Amino acid sequence: MLNGKRILLIFGGGIAAFKSLDLIRRLREQGASVTPVLTRAAQEFVTPLSASALAAEKVYTDLFDLTDEAEMGHIELSRAADLVVVAPATADLMAKMAGGHADDLATTLLMATDKRVLIAPAMNVRMWEHPATQRNAAQLRADGVLFAGPVDGSMACGEFGPGRMSEPMEILAAIEAALADGPLKGRHVIVTSGPTHEPIDPVRYIANRSSGAQGSAIARALAGLGARVTFVTGPATAPRPGGVTVVEVETAQQMLDAVKSAHPADAAICAAAVADWHVVNQPESKIKKDGSGTIPPLDLAENPDILAQISAKGPDRPTLVVGFAAETDDVIANATAKRARKGCDWIVANDVRPETGIMGGSENAVTVVTADGADSWPRMSKDQVAMRLATLVAEALS
Ligand code: CTP
Repeated sequence: MLNGKRILLIFGGGIAAFKSLDLIRRLREQGASVTPVLTRAAQEFVTPLSASALAAEKVYTDLFDLTDEAEMGHIELSRAADLVVVAPATADLMAKMAGGHADDLATTLLMATDKRVLIAPAMNVRMWEHPATQRNAAQLRADGVLFAGPVDGSMACGEFGPGRMSEPMEILAAIEAALADGPLKGRHVIVTSGPTHEPIDPVRYIANRSSGAQGSAIARALAGLGARVTFVTGPATAPRPGGVTVVEVETAQQMLDAVKSAHPADAAICAAAVADWHVVNQPESKIKKDGSGTIPPLDLAENPDILAQISAKGPDRPTLVVGFAAETDDVIANATAKRARKGCDWIVANDVRPETGIMGGSENAVTVVTADGADSWPRMSKDQVAMRLATLVAEALS
């Protein structure tokens, strides 16, 4: 049942729009209220009057309708709903969503919303299979957009194949699933991310090139599945994820302290590129060149291994501990050895040879090593790696 749930239903301009009129009826039968939004193209296929009659609500069509702005602004409209549904989602609408356009009411609402978005694509089979649409679909998935369909079938244009919009009952089931609480609801997950900076003196520090992008994406994906996330990050350049508790640290020791005080947790994902050493007895003043041409010796000591400490047996050990490994050779053998050495449950190994462009880039190619062996995933965006990993975490904790 969807009692009391509010759905903002955006109609794109496709022949399948008539099925979305039926979806309104199905949603209302389940107790949901529906606010329809029709793009200009959608109005060529269905009329605002039919949508409004079935929804028993005002229909919105125009971004610059001042009466509507006085009644309810587009920002408010996009957020009053529990879920935003786009059905039919045309190739053009998907492209605009993937590119972040906001040139009419529908696309502006999709950009402004703070709610989950579910799309039901509908288009000709060639349009669906076109690399541009597939790129856009991959981007939308990585952005956390949920999909219902498309399915195989015969189309209004006479062709057969994938691209047909799911039936209203299938879209309804996807809406019900999206509005159910996420599988990680009630779970606490600690994520470490970014580099650490280890001071040499008051102005210099030891660092590494980690951007924190993969850690941020993992935290976002876990939160999207309903987890309470404590995100412990070093000075990373990647934007901090929303909807999580962010703890900013600088050094490995501070990261360890923050992780310890975030316990207990159901899972810990150590994605941070922790510096291996810190400088012992840092001087209070800046180290000066003495003109001798020699480099002042640095007294280095190994940093605490946060992953190994979290993984150590004890009453506080999370059910699942996941570490990362940056490898340039023998990825599987090294990751398997690292998993045993650190005592964690899984190691996510990335191939960080410079030619892969992974460190600091937007994509990742990982091999996940567990007690059951190694599973190499195809190269994909860091957001997609995060979504897939978060889903595995949810399965492991269920
Ligand atoms: N890690 C940690 N604390 C450290 C060092 C590493 O928590 N002081 C974690 C990282 O967050 C990551 C994993 O351990 O999950 C990486 O292990 P590490 O031993 O640093 O391996 P690599 O960086 O892969 O490098 P190397 O193989 O050279 O040790």
